[in-house]
Amino acid sequence: MSIMGEYHIRTYEDRDYDAVRTLFSCGITEHVPAALQYVLKSPLTHLLLLGVFLLAYLISSSSLFSLGVVAALCFMGSTRIKALWLQYVREALDSDMRDIRRTYLEPKDCCFWVVETGQEVVGMVVAVHPEDPSLRGRALELKRMSVAKQHRGRGLSKALTKTVIHFAQERGYQEVVLGTTMVQYAAQRVYEGMGFRKVKEIYPSLVARLVQFSVYLYRYKIAES
Ligand SMILES: CC(C)(COP(=O)(O)OP(=O)(O)OC[C@H]1O[C@@H](n2cnc3c(N)ncnc32)[C@H](O)[C@@H]1OP(=O)(O)O)[C@@H](O)C(=O)NCCC(=O)NCCS
Repeated sequence: MSIMGEYHIRTYEDRDYDAVRTLFSCGITEHVPAALQYVLKSPLTHLLLLGVFLLAYLISSSSLFSLGVVAALCFMGSTRIKALWLQYVREALDSDMRDIRRTYLEPKDCCFWVVETGQEVVGMVVAVHPEDPSLRGRALELKRMSVAKQHRGRGLSKALTKTVIHFAQERGYQEVVLGTTMVQYAAQRVYEGMGFRKVKEIYPSLVARLVQFSVYLYRYKIAES
């Protein structure tokens, strides 16, 4: 499929392996600063830091020491948050993004697309069966959406999203679902602009809840034809 002349969407080929793994890693790790800012701005964090400051002051009677404790806690917290994002990338690269052909091209009703311009791969997305068993057979999940920074704002993710919706519709699915984090603001705009509806907010783990890392689940209802 050709979009806007110079860009072209096609199915993944083995020669795209390094490019898509890099595109995926960069697309995720760029959100680390926003995630840190999100946590630092949260009233819950302010409350926690105030509580720690007061406790340290009660024990030490030193405001300098108490500030030091708060600073150390901020440092440890931000290191932990960064580690969580990097761990997510590592785990994906070692699982579904390792044998891409087997994960995304061989199973029925799954696919992996890239956007290329010239010889360069600048965007990607996949359609896969949802992890949630209650959605299986009814919905396909859109995952691994990423567009290279220099090629953003040109409608590429919109075209990739339409590709997934069309693919699901052709195969008789009723919905396309996806999950994105609370700080993936551009992605939220893209999906909401295309008619996806936010249906739930979840915390993937206890640690995620502690650092206020949430995932928004979105759903797109495919119109009956
Ligand atoms: C999210 C992402 C894929 C968007 O790609 P893109 O190709 O720049 O998006 P598009 O050009 O197709 O934009 C589609 C719509 O979203 C809007 N949009 C895109 N980025 C936006 C931003 N940063 N702020 C506000 N609106 C934005 C566009 O204005 C456009 O709206 P329009 O149809 O009214 O013109 C890209 O920013 C990205 O790769 N981010 C990093 C990886 C990531 O977060 N992936 C999402 C995984 S769930």
